[in-house]
Amino acid sequence: MTVSGIEIKPPEGKLGVMLVGLGAVTTTFVAGVEAIKKGLSKPIGSLTQMGTIRLGKRTEKRAPVVKEFLPLHSLEDMVFAAWDIFEDNAYEASLKAGVLERQDLESVKQELESLKPMKAVFDQNYVKKLSGDHVKPTSSKRDLINLLIEDIQEFKKKHQLTNIVIIWCGSTEIFIRTGEIHQSLDVFDRAIDSNHPDVAPSMLYAYAALKSGVPFINGAPNLTVDFPAMLELADKMHMPVSGKDFKTGQTLMKTILAPGLKARLLGLRGWFSTNILGNRDGEVLDDPESFKTKEESKLSVLEYILQPDLYPDLYKDFYHKVRINYYPPRGDNKEGWDNLDIYGWMGYPMQIKIDFLCRDSILAAPIVLDLVLFSDLAQRAGMKGIQEWLSFYFKSPMCAPDLYPEHDLFIQLTKLKNTLRYMMGEEQITHLGVEYYQ
Ligand SMILES: NC(=O)c1ccc[n+]([C@@H]2O[C@H](COP(=O)([O-])OP(=O)(O)OC[C@H]3O[C@@H](n4cnc5c(N)ncnc54)[C@H](O)[C@@H]3O)[C@@H](O)[C@H]2O)c1
Repeated sequence: MTVSGIEIKPPEGKLGVMLVGLGAVTTTFVAGVEAIKKGLSKPIGSLTQMGTIRLGKRTEKRAPVVKEFLPLHSLEDMVFAAWDIFEDNAYEASLKAGVLERQDLESVKQELESLKPMKAVFDQNYVKKLSGDHVKPTSSKRDLINLLIEDIQEFKKKHQLTNIVIIWCGSTEIFIRTGEIHQSLDVFDRAIDSNHPDVAPSMLYAYAALKSGVPFINGAPNLTVDFPAMLELADKMHMPVSGKDFKTGQTLMKTILAPGLKARLLGLRGWFSTNILGNRDGEVLDDPESFKTKEESKLSVLEYILQPDLYPDLYKDFYHKVRINYYPPRGDNKEGWDNLDIYGWMGYPMQIKIDFLCRDSILAAPIVLDLVLFSDLAQRAGMKGIQEWLSFYFKSPMCAPDLYPEHDLFIQLTKLKNTLRYMMGEEQITHLGVEYYQ
């Protein structure tokens, strides 16, 4: 039983939320926050706003709402800034993204129009399908970092901020592996100074954030902060980092279903997943190199949850395929089909079919909200480096090099809530329950 009670600085003034990318996810998130602030909507899907946390014994009947249990910033505190390679303000961008109905956008039009993106740090080699001219006009990576740091400082000054969080909601960059230059901060700094091609734009944002004393969250599957040099910087600056890739749609379903199959010791022969989607994210992922980044993120989930090494009779050699097909007529309203070939007693085969007509950005927006609030909390609690307790929100959770990531949604939720109890000096809940029967 671990009871800690960490000293947490109180939330002060406004909370600055800086979003990289002003696309479907960002605009849906900002529009939702503004609508909730006006009482026009509820924060559905957000654990900080609607979730409760049980404290103490079941007989105590203590279950406060998470946002009342912790010293979190409120939605009213939030002020936004964004970067994008296109000049559209958040209202124009959200019309193009096509996630929210016009009438919902009209009610927050003024707030959205006032969110105009700053010029982005962009390199088309990293996102082949996009080109935009709202970009910072220099190619020196060190200069670009300095310009981003200036953006952060200006935003801080304008709103007199103590607390800021930066979150990557930009397009998925091409797949790159951790190489020699990513191994230590010293070498990485030299790579920045020599404009090394393996220093991606997302890394420059993350570097600028950490150098500025700002926590960084990565909502896409790019490498970005998930390598030793950046973790060294996070450690040095005492900043929390988390990622990668928001857990929405099909992968969310996988991490709900797979633990259930394993819990009941049902075997899996194959899991085929295919999607059609027609938003800008879908277009970017139509490029094989960006898709490779996404595929890596999506494929590992089942291996980790099902543990074929521990359960060879059930999960050795199951076939797993993930397809994403760009299909413009669907816009953001994607459709994901899953076919599972499973087997039970005496090896008898069964099938499960899922047809999920989901809205990716509707699932992603509350994740952005929670991650922003929790990352700010972590920073005020002095928690630095990888925030494994935030795995709950990611498809490809970052974890220490000698650990395997935890993908099971229910273990992730237990981990998250126990971390909150730990932070607030409450007892861990083990679900043992013998005390009720003594
Ligand atoms: N929608 C979801 O549910 C979901 C789930 C998991 C991950 N993601 C990831 O989140 C990211 C955003 O998704 P989306 O649906 O909003 O995509 P989107 O294409 O609508 O928006 C991304 C925005 O980022 C901008 N951008 C690209 N590179 C940039 C850079 N270097 N600097 C600043 N802006 C840049 C693009 O111009 C675009 O406006 C994607 O990487 C996506 O894979 C989304």
